[in-house]
Amino acid sequence: MSTGPIKDLGRSFDRVADAYDEGRPSYPDEVYRALTEVSGVELDGATTVDVGAGTGIMTCALRARGARVLAVDPGEPMLARLVSKVAAQRGTPVAAVLGDGNALPLADGVADLVTYAQSWHWLDPATSISEARRVLRPGGAIAGCWNLNHAAQADWLAAYETRLAEEVPAYWGPAVEEWSVPPIASAFEVMAERWIPWTRLVGIEQFLLDLRSHSYMAALSRERADEVVERRRAELRQAFPEGVLSVPVRVYLAVGR
Ligand SMILES: C[S@@+](CC[C@H](N)C(=O)[O-])C[C@H]1O[C@@H](n2cnc3c(N)ncnc32)[C@H](O)[C@@H]1O
Repeated sequence: MSTGPIKDLGRSFDRVADAYDEGRPSYPDEVYRALTEVSGVELDGATTVDVGAGTGIMTCALRARGARVLAVDPGEPMLARLVSKVAAQRGTPVAAVLGDGNALPLADGVADLVTYAQSWHWLDPATSISEARRVLRPGGAIAGCWNLNHAAQADWLAAYETRLAEEVPAYWGPAVEEWSVPPIASAFEVMAERWIPWTRLVGIEQFLLDLRSHSYMAALSRERADEVVERRRAELRQAFPEGVLSVPVRVYLAVGR
């Protein structure tokens, strides 16, 4: 694993693909219900292009709901995990394509839905959406969603995010005053925006893997990242000796065309 500086943070996930796969949460059922309700696209039988598919968190959930998924991501290590996960499951095959969401390697008018789960903010805001529109059939929809720790709901989580902001130069999250959700709603014709709260029960070690999988952590040297993780581990173990965290999370979902 390289430990040199990373210029393109959007590609930094490649070096933390294992942590990403093991540490990141999936999205609650309500996200998929809201997506269908707002877009009018039934997932069962829909052709979906999952852009920035990564290790396949959204891809696998769409597939489990009957969608045919074309998973696009430029990160080979991320996509390799998606492919091995899908191979271990029953169901319709997933086409995993190494590619850029700003220049989708797909024909016009092939999809009912284009999804960006935790990924649109890494793409060019205008080019990505015009590419999504190009590959959509008439009546198709575009959806962006992000799982976000809801720091305002728990003092320990607010303090945790604040310490990260102090220690990690590239930190970007709720502890930064200028932080806000990615502005996808101003990049397309919005059909609806939803905030979907949920509670994540997670062990401390999995939560720390999640921490390691953030781009701002991947931008640190391995030694610096280990130090940051070790400090958070000590604080969390002291505050939660039983080893389980109840993390308030909310999904921001924006659906448009
Ligand atoms: C935070 S991960 C999201 C992965 C997955 N969708 C999920 O919900 O967990 C962001 C992904 O966007 C990908 N990405 C970065 N730049 C991209 C681009 N130009 N086109 C498509 N995907 C890109 C990264 O490789 C990474 O896998």
